[in-house]
This record gives sequence, structure tokens and C-alpha cells, in this order.
Amino acid sequence: MSEYSSPEHWGQPTFDLYAATVSAAAAAWPLVGSGDKNAVDRAAVDAMRASLIGANFGGTVVIGEGEKDEAPMLYTGELIGQGQPLDWDIAVDPIDGTALAAAGLPGAVSVMAASPRSTMMRAPEVFYMKKIVTGAIGRGVVSLEASPTENIIALAAAMDKPVSALNVAVINKARNLDVIAEVQASGANWVRFDEGDVAMAVAAALDETSVDMLLGVGGNPEGVVTACAVHVLGGFMQGKLVVMTPEQLTMAMDAGHDLDRLHELHELVSGDRHIFVLTGLTDGAFVKGIREDGEDLIIQSVVIDTALVEPRLVEVKVPRF
Ligand code: FBP
Repeated sequence: MSEYSSPEHWGQPTFDLYAATVSAAAAAWPLVGSGDKNAVDRAAVDAMRASLIGANFGGTVVIGEGEKDEAPMLYTGELIGQGQPLDWDIAVDPIDGTALAAAGLPGAVSVMAASPRSTMMRAPEVFYMKKIVTGAIGRGVVSLEASPTENIIALAAAMDKPVSALNVAVINKARNLDVIAEVQASGANWVRFDEGDVAMAVAAALDETSVDMLLGVGGNPEGVVTACAVHVLGGFMQGKLVVMTPEQLTMAMDAGHDLDRLHELHELVSGDRHIFVLTGLTDGAFVKGIREDGEDLIIQSVVIDTALVEPRLVEVKVPRF
């Protein structure tokens, strides 16, 4: 990761996405530890949307806060930015880890991603995705078709280290208890986290972090957002849509989704330009959380963009919201 001090030179829409996640995190900061996750989310959504109003590109929100009726802002289908034509698919996650932020815990971030128009997988009727993410070394080595144990043994061998040195992140949810048990039984290290699988999945694809692989079922929208970063990083990812209840199964079937299909990275997001911006709200896997400096806030972000060659870690000082 390299440092770059002039985000204005990143061009559009990268700079606008970066500015929007910084605004969202700054607005949510006063509510960290408040116990109110809806208030955290609302503050971040309002600030992100306000920041995007004058943005210099044209895009459609493909992964948003929900359909229009339940989400008045940044809803799926909303057009954003002033630019024409509408060249971009946009994904927003104003805060990933709202419960963490509300509890004042590490791991809350603000995220946006963009890819060329009509390149992001659209499956708003399905809430969950089974995921496997690694760095480039996992390609041809691990697969969602294999068991966690098989993947752990294969990846450790490819990385030329003992299984006991492999760090496998799995989100700590009841639906993943079997995967977690298998990771522990294999002798690998379970990287435990309770919410926020975008940052952990990207950590698995980044060489600089200690996370080697992400497994388990997390959010579906978060999976597509993650895929944008994994593309740029040259990492490996596969995903499978998952339903948790009979009602969710009916919704998925009515919308024509194939729950048996293994989606390769290029099916989650295609095209030749991908942008992913992640700003820390509380301390995370590869960004620091917001720090106060008198009347200012110091805010750290990572920008991963096909056009920037390598990921950029950038810090900005902004007045308190
Ligand atoms: P929110 O902050 O939007 O609630 O998402 C947090 C999160 O942990 C995601 O990172 C993850 O993909 C998803 O929730 C898992 O969903 P659930 O909380 O329903 O298990």
C-alpha cells in the first residue's frame, strides 16, 4: 500500500466516492458508542447523499440502502451525481458494522464501490452470500466446492506454511458455527469478528494483512462490494447466494435466482474498471478509526482503484461535524 497525499488527482468518480465515505464517517463519529445503530446509519446515509449531490459523474445505485419505499435515500435505482451519461454502477454501504459503531467497538467502516454500468450482479431479493476470498495465491487452489478443511490444507501448502500459521476469518454468526468448528478442528487460527465482513474479506485479498482467507455466509450486497476490491487486487473470490428462511426462498425463486450456482468473481462484478473506497470509523483490519485532534477529526481511508495501480492509504483532517 502506498501513501498519496493529493486525492484531488484521482479523478472522477474516485475522488467523489472517497469524499462521500469521509463525510459519512465524520457524520457518524459523534454517535459512536451511542447504542443507537439506526442513528449511526441515518447520520452516515444523510452525509453520504449530501456529499454526492454535486458529484461530477453519473451513476445508478445498484446496491443501496433498500428499495425506494423502505429507503428514501441512496435507494437501489436512485440516480446520483450531476454527470451524464449514467456511466457507473454504484454500491453504497454508508456504515458496514452499524452495531459495532453503536457499541463503540472496532471494525466499523464506510464503504462505496463503482464499476462500469450494468456490471455489478443484481440480486436485491437475496440477503446472504456464502463467500470464499483469498489473495491471488488461492486461484486454482481453493474453491467453494471444497470443504473448509480441504481449503485450509490446500492454501497452507500453496503458501508454504503450516496449517497452524494460517489465519481464517469467519463472521461469528450461528449459521457459520459448523465452518468455525471446522477451522478450529483443522488447527488453523480462527480470526473472530462479529460484524463487518467487507473489511475482513478485503483483508483476506490484501497481501499486507495477516488474514489469509475469508469463509462463511455474510451479506450478499457486501459480497458484491467486496468483489470490486478483489478484482483490482487480483485476488480470488467465489460466492453463492444463500437464503435463511422459507420466505427468503420464495422471494429468491420468484426473482429467478439460482441458489445452486457458484458465482465466479467476474460474475459478481465484470468490466475493466473497479473502484473501492473504505474509510475507517472505528479501528479496523487495515485502517485506523477516526481520531480527534482539537476541533478536527483525522480520518483514514484506503482507495483501491484499477486506475491507481496500487492501493492508497490516505489520511485527511476535517473539522468536526
Ligand atoms: P450492517 O452494518 O449494515 O448491519 O451490516 C453488518 C454485517 O455484519 C455485514 O458486514 C455482513 O455482511 C452482514 O451484516 C451479515 O448480516 P447479518 O447481520 O444479518 O448476519
